[in-house]
Amino acid sequence: MIEKLQRLILNSPNLRPITMKLIRKFQIGSYQKRVVLGAVERPHYGYCVYNAAVLAKRLGYERISVLEFGVAWGHGLMNLEYHAQEVSRLIGIEIEIYGFDTGAGLPKPKDYRDLPYHWQEGFFRMDVPKLQAQLKKAKLVLGEVEHKSKDFFDKYNPAPIGAIAYDLDFYSSTIAALKMLEADEKYYLPRVFCYFDDTIGTESELYNDYTGERLAINEFNQSHNNIKLGFPYHLLAKRFPEMWHHQIWVCHFFGHSRYNDLIGAERPS
Ligand SMILES: C[S@@+](CC[C@H](N)C(=O)[O-])C[C@H]1O[C@@H](n2cnc3c(N)ncnc32)[C@H](O)[C@@H]1O
Repeated sequence: MIEKLQRLILNSPNLRPITMKLIRKFQIGSYQKRVVLGAVERPHYGYCVYNAAVLAKRLGYERISVLEFGVAWGHGLMNLEYHAQEVSRLIGIEIEIYGFDTGAGLPKPKDYRDLPYHWQEGFFRMDVPKLQAQLKKAKLVLGEVEHKSKDFFDKYNPAPIGAIAYDLDFYSSTIAALKMLEADEKYYLPRVFCYFDDTIGTESELYNDYTGERLAINEFNQSHNNIKLGFPYHLLAKRFPEMWHHQIWVCHFFGHSRYNDLIGAERPS
């Protein structure tokens, strides 16, 4: 009865927004229900971590990693810690968390593709000791992502990566981070849930296909035959679309030895 009532309310275009707010604020219902509904803090982070863990479990993995590129003051990384803890408990899987950042804020924009009309060198400088003290589990990988990406796998030997949040703001930095997708398949699940923060903005950023993160995604897809970042059409077709649905991409590793493993089940039509 209560479930039916909830469904009715959540299917009402008028009542849904306030109900979602209340569920998020007062954490009404189980974490699983809230994350699937998108009624959690940073639903896009929760979505990626939860679905990566579900996929990993179905494929028999015991551990996964989740990454955030661009940490700044750590609000996103701490949110990832929250989701990882809840998801880990729920799905029964270990989750490692890594956050990449210069520590010194944005580097100098290289050219127009880094949107210098919107971003400036030094924005988002991190207070490293303060953030280190606040983090429970996430590891900070500090330095230029272009350099850090080269020895990250050897140095940390991370569990297979299942979810990645890209929030480096620049085309040039995102290109460097995307290059890490070329690493050995043992470092990735066959499909990785990705969030790209700087793909929808305002009249100031004017994100488009020819600069910034969107250009980096497009160029990555053009230059890789066996790895593609694809749109999540299942989200885009939802009855109640959210902005973040348009900021999710799924990275498909077509050549991954586990890509074709069956995870679906036959259902009566
Ligand atoms: C918008 S902030 C990240 C905000 C954070 N994700 C959050 O949600 O709280 C962008 C960050 O990207 C980092 N960044 C940009 N380019 C970088 C690069 N080439 N190497 C390392 N970090 C970089 C900057 O230092 C900055 O802190």
